[in-house]
Amino acid sequence: MFILKHRLLENVSFSYDGRNRALDAISFKVKKGSSVALVGESGAGKSTVLRLLYRFYDLADGDGKILIDGQDIRKVTHASLRKAIGVVPQDPVLFNSSIKYNVGYVCGSLEQGPWHW
Ligand SMILES: Nc1ncnc2c1ncn2[C@@H]1O[C@H](COP(=O)(O)OP(=O)(O)OP(=O)(O)O)[C@@H](O)[C@H]1O
Ligand SMILES: [Mg+2]
Repeated sequence: MFILKHRLLENVSFSYDGRNRALDAISFKVKKGSSVALVGESGAGKSTVLRLLYRFYDLADGDGKILIDGQDIRKVTHASLRKAIGVVPQDPVLFNSSIKYNVGYVCGSLEQGPWHW
């Protein structure tokens, strides 16, 4: 993860199913301009941190906060957040279709994107 803006996870807890905690009161601060690696055993919660940063899930009230440059990410739009974050997942997802379709899915309209076919 290469960080362009200050990030802060503040006492973040998260559960997918309401019973088991995937994250339990995690806090860390990341400085702008730094590169970060999340390291831990399988199931430790690395991917969950990224899913929360990307707002695939939102934290419930009382389950901590994720701040980027001091701003709670729940208050920004998904579009602006995703413009600021690039993620390369460990398990790449490919649709059973053309390369154009797969790239277009990510970039939105190919005409507006950097791609020329
Ligand atoms: N979609 C899901 N539904 C329910 N539980 C989940 C889901 N995804 C992850 N978990 C659980 O949340 C916990 C954290 O999982 P996570 O995928 O964040 O771990 P990880 O550190 O990325 O592991 P790995 O190194 O295997 O990728 C684990 O206990 C996992 O079983
Ligand atoms: Mg993972």
